Amino acid sequence: MDRPFIHINCASTLDGKIARPDGSRLRISGPWDMKRVHQMRSELGAILVGAGTIIGDDPKLTVKDEYVPGAPSLNKIVIDGKGKIPVTSRFLRTKGRSIIVTSEGCDRTWLSELITAKEKEELELEIIELDGTDGRVDLQKMLKALHEMDIKKIMVEGGAQIIWEFVEQGLFDRFTIYYGPLLIGGKGPTVMDGIGFMKGAASIEIEKIVETPDGGFLVEMVSIDH
Ligand SMILES: NC(=O)c1ccc[n+]([C@@H]2O[C@H](COP(=O)([O-])OP(=O)(O)OC[C@H]3O[C@@H](n4cnc5c(N)ncnc54)[C@H](OP(=O)(O)O)[C@@H]3O)[C@@H](O)[C@H]2O)c1
Repeated sequence: MDRPFIHINCASTLDGKIARPDGSRLRISGPWDMKRVHQMRSELGAILVGAGTIIGDDPKLTVKDEYVPGAPSLNKIVIDGKGKIPVTSRFLRTKGRSIIVTSEGCDRTWLSELITAKEKEELELEIIELDGTDGRVDLQKMLKALHEMDIKKIMVEGGAQIIWEFVEQGLFDRFTIYYGPLLIGGKGPTVMDGIGFMKGAASIEIEKIVETPDGGFLVEMVSIDH
């Protein structure tokens, strides 16, 4: 396999939502799931999210010491084909290497501001610029490049568009969804957005369903399509 092992993970309400109707952040996981997620981040060593998650939530993308004391630093990968994430984003300034995957079609002013911030602040940042003038990044090419950088395992954490693309293209090995005891409604982001499958569906097998101490449950799936 010349791509990293991919484990998709997200937290959902019982009605399939991963954020509030306006896309703002919703705390779904309790302490039990938070600990599991941070342990997973630490074990896999690399975490990946889309530009939408950075713009909306401004996450730090770290492993918290309270969950995994003394954890090694993470590779924090963000896909931003057009160059929209703020150069002030918090993940750029937390422990570990940040990797921004963009395209030839990205906003060139944004790119030069990012490079200036990297040099001025001595950020641990790598920018991967792949071909594609339409601002799209080919996920297979991206995974090959990351594999060549010795990144062998990645936890894909969202959001809705990114998860859809990995599942649509069969680019995953495991998929876990934590369902918290919440109902939100509305038309906010779901576990997977995108256009959806008009024929068939993703080929997965449920390996285990675990009732969790915080009143939710965890569904552990494996892909049978790769
Ligand atoms: N509950 C959870 O576990 C969880 C976890 C993470 C996020 N979230 C929620 O998810 C929501 C964000 O989801 P989202 O779907 O809006 O955003 P997203 O999936 O994080 O990012 C999507 C954006 O990334 C860029 N992108 C995606 N694929 C690309 C590709 N192949 N090439 C180039 N660029 C690509 C695109 O930007 P352009 O449109 O500019 O091209 C796209 O709009 C937030 O509400 C957040 O709170 C929840």
